[in-house]
Amino acid sequence: MKRSQHRSNISGARRRVCRVTAAALFATAGMMLPAASTLAQQPTKVKIGLMLPYTGTYAALGNAITNGFKLAVEESGGTLGGREIEYFTVDDESDPAKAPENANKLIKRDKVDVLVGTVHSGVALAMAKVARDNNTLLIIPNAGADEITGPLCAANIFRTSFSNWQPGYAMGKVAADQKKKTAVTFTWKYAAGDESVGGFKEGFEQGGGKVVKELSLPFPQVEFQPYLTEIASLKPDVVYVFFAGGGAVKFVKDYAAAGLKSSIPLVGAGFLTDGTLDAQGDSAQGLLTTLHYADGLSNPKDKRFRAAYSKAYKAEPDVYAVQGYDAAQLLNTGLAAVKGDVGKRGELVAAMEAAKIDSPRGPFTLSKAHNPVQDIYLRKVEGKENKVVSVAIKGLTDPARGCKL
Ligand code: BEZ
Repeated sequence: MKRSQHRSNISGARRRVCRVTAAALFATAGMMLPAASTLAQQPTKVKIGLMLPYTGTYAALGNAITNGFKLAVEESGGTLGGREIEYFTVDDESDPAKAPENANKLIKRDKVDVLVGTVHSGVALAMAKVARDNNTLLIIPNAGADEITGPLCAANIFRTSFSNWQPGYAMGKVAADQKKKTAVTFTWKYAAGDESVGGFKEGFEQGGGKVVKELSLPFPQVEFQPYLTEIASLKPDVVYVFFAGGGAVKFVKDYAAAGLKSSIPLVGAGFLTDGTLDAQGDSAQGLLTTLHYADGLSNPKDKRFRAAYSKAYKAEPDVYAVQGYDAAQLLNTGLAAVKGDVGKRGELVAAMEAAKIDSPRGPFTLSKAHNPVQDIYLRKVEGKENKVVSVAIKGLTDPARGCKL
């Protein structure tokens, strides 16, 4: 007998002994022995890696996304595609330098099936690279880095939020329609700010306006005073900014305190006033922004979502909560199509690509590059709300420049 045959006969004998022993045990205990196929098919939980900021200027955004995601899971009975969920959570601190190690920990150590994250575009770019290298399914519930659904687009990468270009472009069109001729832009100097300003500039200059100065400071600095002095001396028709989270709270307050609010209209991508109005108070009143979510959308899904969210978390939802909720809805659609079998990647991806998400923002589909095709709303701050004024652009698709999908 060859050695390998011998080994396999021995292990075959051992297997038989084990089966007999198990049968005897079940019989002794008066139980029915489950079929071997039933035992083999007992699904383990789907492992979800949540890589989000839980500290720093974007901490509130990471928490809202987590809450939204978990709410959607709870609404489908604690499962997605019929399978229970196990969470693995990492605080990415909005630090791109730590992102490859954090993403690799979730993929290689925790062996997550799906990576969900993040808020900061620089961190998301690193996650996208790791996800591509490992062919891990990645769902981005905020970060708008244009590249991710541009040259870096991939079959395994999806986004349920926006591209940085989308709200910026819409605000540029709105400002041009309002007959503003000159604009100064101001942002944190990283992908999100640069691309948001790029979108604004494209829309504004297509409409006949001119961006006369582009100001920026490093993320997440908040020493705005010298820039406000420069804006005051430039006297543009309008100022467009990208700030979010804690930095947005301080910027809006500083702009008003510098006496600029009444003389130079301030506009922005809606992150400027989303999830921040309690802290911004009077300084935000009347500000116009553009975003793919707003208060006062009277669709039934939004009403149900808002009631469920405030009941669960004793807080009002914002755009970040919506994006987290929709990340879980998208994954649910994919997993349902494969009856929870994450191994059927091709079918899972095809179902996600074809999904029509019934979002609180209004229904949306995904572009070929896996970015939402969605309405962008013009909103105005009234009290504690970003009240919808109009649809600034209907069904806006990111141009996905450089995507080869
Ligand atoms: C970003 O880095 O892509 C981002 C961060 C906060 C709000 C919106 C976008």
